[in-house]
Amino acid sequence: MEKLVIKGGRPILGQVEISGAKNAAVAILPVAIIASKGKCIIENIPDIEDVNCIERILEDLGCEIKRENNSVSIDSTNIISMDANTEDVRKMRASYYLIGALLARFKKAKVDLPGGCPIGVRPIDQHIKGFEALGATVTIESGAVKVEADRLIGTSIYFDVVSVGATINVMTAATLAEGTTILENSAKEPHVVDVANFLNSMGASIKGAGTDVIRIIGVKELTGCTYSVIPDQIEAGTFMIAAAACGGEVTINNVIPKHLESISAKLMEMGAEVHEGGDSVTVKAKGRLKAVNIKTLPYPGFPTDVQQPMNTLLCISEGRSIINESIWEARFKHVDELKKMGASIKVEGSVATVDGVDKLIGTVVTASDLRAGAALVIAGLIAEGTTEILGIEHIDRGYPNIEEKFRSIGADITRVTI
Ligand code: EPU
Repeated sequence: MEKLVIKGGRPILGQVEISGAKNAAVAILPVAIIASKGKCIIENIPDIEDVNCIERILEDLGCEIKRENNSVSIDSTNIISMDANTEDVRKMRASYYLIGALLARFKKAKVDLPGGCPIGVRPIDQHIKGFEALGATVTIESGAVKVEADRLIGTSIYFDVVSVGATINVMTAATLAEGTTILENSAKEPHVVDVANFLNSMGASIKGAGTDVIRIIGVKELTGCTYSVIPDQIEAGTFMIAAAACGGEVTINNVIPKHLESISAKLMEMGAEVHEGGDSVTVKAKGRLKAVNIKTLPYPGFPTDVQQPMNTLLCISEGRSIINESIWEARFKHVDELKKMGASIKVEGSVATVDGVDKLIGTVVTASDLRAGAALVIAGLIAEGTTEILGIEHIDRGYPNIEEKFRSIGADITRVTI
């Protein structure tokens, strides 16, 4: 086991490179198996445990996977199984993207129900609704989702809730359906657009991704392609918030500033300076920032995935902030840990009231999930004294080389084996 040890209270300064987006990569890799001919070469893949997990899952299904630096090649021409039932499948959220891809290509699949971070109930009713509308029969049998269809036929589907996963999964299944599918009330997140662009590079015909209406004209087959994953909006947001919290000046490179607008706007409202470059943002802050209210919303609203890191910054901001978490009802597991460090936070249902304190004090804390881990790293960076973070396997699932990246901008953070 490992832990992170942080000696806090130093400003962070310099430049940091953002990796490829986790939530795009963990969708694109399983979706790649839809190609019945040719290899997919996916570039800008982040070096994270969730990607390793997906690669193992694909190998178990019979894909040939080769990893070279940040590039992964997937040859799925000789897939031997449509039944994904390993421990890796059960622990990952994104394994459900196998359902859409296998259903499209083979008209059948059996995939164990997915896991993921413990941040609330994570239903898949909208995925099922979409697959059924396309003509599939869906059953849940001994903890697995079983889908089967003689034919998939394009139709109109209106999602009851805005869901990233359901939008990507049903869009994927529809690429090989007969005729036209229209998805309404679709998610608009950057990684939805990235998966659509990837599928289009393989020969699909998808228009409108990034708006709430996506139109897919079914094609006969998809073939391998070379594709580069977009930069990680959430990793970038985490470094932006860290820079604002530590009172430093950090230029965050390899980003799409447009994807970060809701975060930039909040940091500016708090009194930080944010300057956008072509593919970078610079965040500069000095002293205590002002409290603000946050409501998490689907894109382009404030992302739920940076709510927890933002909560840390609000802990030391001046005044009272209200956080309204409207996507995941249990995304406050970091709060008790921040309180151990001196934060004043009260959670009632999906609302957290944060009263800013002068400082946090280092202690031993435990990450319960990925973004809780990121919140605790930022807390350690700003706290007086030493913070030890346990449970860092959660952080490694989604942040590549987090300690090296923070060290490169002046943080005192080390990984220690325990
Ligand atoms: N929902 C339903 N029915 C469904 C699907 C979703 O009611 O069939 C609800 C959920 O309960 C939730 C809301 O819709 O309240 C949004 O869920 P969504 O489907 O968008 O989430 P997801 O696809 O399971 C992805 C990311 C999450 C991120 C959310 C929201 C991946 C692998 N995960 O999850 O990322 O929080 O979108 O943006 O892409 C993270 O990276 O830390 C993380 C948890």
